[in-house]
Amino acid sequence: MENGIQIAIDGPAAAGKSTIAKITASKLGYTYIDTGAMYRALTYKALKEHIDVYDDDALSQLLERIVIELEPTENGQIVRVDGADVTDAIRSQEVTSNVSATAAQPRVREMMVEKQRLLATSKGVVMDGRDIGTAVLPSAELKIYMTASVEERAARRFVENTKRGIDRPLDQLCQDISNRDKADMERVASPLKQASDAILIDTTSMSIEEVADTIIQHAEKRKSR
Ligand code: DC
Repeated sequence: MENGIQIAIDGPAAAGKSTIAKITASKLGYTYIDTGAMYRALTYKALKEHIDVYDDDALSQLLERIVIELEPTENGQIVRVDGADVTDAIRSQEVTSNVSATAAQPRVREMMVEKQRLLATSKGVVMDGRDIGTAVLPSAELKIYMTASVEERAARRFVENTKRGIDRPLDQLCQDISNRDKADMERVASPLKQASDAILIDTTSMSIEEVADTIIQHAEKRKSR
């Protein structure tokens, strides 16, 4: 894409990053890259192979020998590990509870960042995660830090889970999200934090369309610079 830009969207768990990133990418005709899915895919495979999710060496060796693919389709992104479709499996409660441990391992992060940079070499990408604006694409033309209250994020996750047939009480979801925030923000290796040049969007009382439109307006301004 000739005059496409790189858009980095970071923020805590369940802030609506992937929903918004998908819409933004589709409206702009950009490629959407969900980096959380990559950490989830590695975690899924590690659990399957009984690899300790705190063992950086074992995890990075595993990451070296598996192939993680993100394939955009009309019905969303398909995630494959060694050719097998794991799109739904990586959203399981077991993967969700273990992914922060995997994502805290320094060597794993180094390898993931390398892979993610390669995926973003062409212009016209929207990438979402925790460290996109700070570590993966530090020179992205547009950086967004998206957040919402824990209660609002839990309520949104509850609705999403119900659609997927996942049954988890709301108070438990609040606890899960707070735990994940803590793990993601307090880890030593590139913790979740707002990049100094990122635009903060608190989506607590905004609709999906309002958030997407706000980001697109910022993107249009950046594109014409
Ligand atoms: O966005 P998500 O919930 O699918 O992300 C899963 C986990 O992966 C999350 O707990 C933090 C981690 N992650 C990360 O550390 N860095 C990223 N760029 C993306 C996700």
